Amino acid sequence: MTRVGWLKVVIFPVCLVPLARLVWNATQANLGANPIEAITHSTGDWTLRLLLVTLAITPLRKLTGQPWLIGLRRMFGLFAYFYGCLHFLTYIWLDQGFNVHSMAKDVYKRPFITMGFTAFVLLAPLAVTSTRKMIQRLGGRRWQWLHRLIYVSAAVAIVHFTWAMKKDHHRPIEYGIVLALLLGYRVVVWAVPALAGKRKRAAAMADATGD
Ligand code: HEM
Repeated sequence: MTRVGWLKVVIFPVCLVPLARLVWNATQANLGANPIEAITHSTGDWTLRLLLVTLAITPLRKLTGQPWLIGLRRMFGLFAYFYGCLHFLTYIWLDQGFNVHSMAKDVYKRPFITMGFTAFVLLAPLAVTSTRKMIQRLGGRRWQWLHRLIYVSAAVAIVHFTWAMKKDHHRPIEYGIVLALLLGYRVVVWAVPALAGKRKRAAAMADATGD
């Protein structure tokens, strides 16, 4: 088995530990005074953490010069979506009991729910098109463009988190800084060669015109 193959075998069960802990604590009646809130918070936290881990793979790969790391990105992305589904399900099932009227009222009362829903919906096409077959069908460039939705989803998720925390914004700010660094890295990587190209073209033009 390849290095990525072995790492996946280890990382897969590790990504299931937060779920296993929730299930264990639920069976032990150890989720605190408000178990639904505890499940909502834990699944929300892990969705966001795994989104950030997914976004960290490309910078890590480039900065360390380890191209094989890219082989882990899909698994982290799918686990982020998995925890997102559990988070969403906790809300519509355990919290709202599939009551559409109550959900509509809640969305009106707490706008952060709409933000969470937007972040979640944006991840769905990425999960659906994550297979090799779909990459081939869409073509590399189109697939890459579509998968940039993860940037929007992560940014909207930070807004969702910030609005959900009425008083203490420490944690959303910390997560927001991590996201800003991960997205900032991409902007720099994109802008620096573009700027270098622009300078080169300006120099060539100056040479040609004798300025
Ligand atoms: C990519 C999608 C999403 C991410 C990354 C996300 C992330 C989070 C995070 C980090 C929290 C705070 C957890 C904590 O306090 O430790 C949270 C709370 C919450 N989220 Fe989400 N969320 C997403 C989608 C959704 C969706 C689709 C819904 C419902 C439709 C939702 C409903 C909630 C609720 C009700 C809370 C609890 C807020 C409170 O305690 O007052 N989230 N979410």
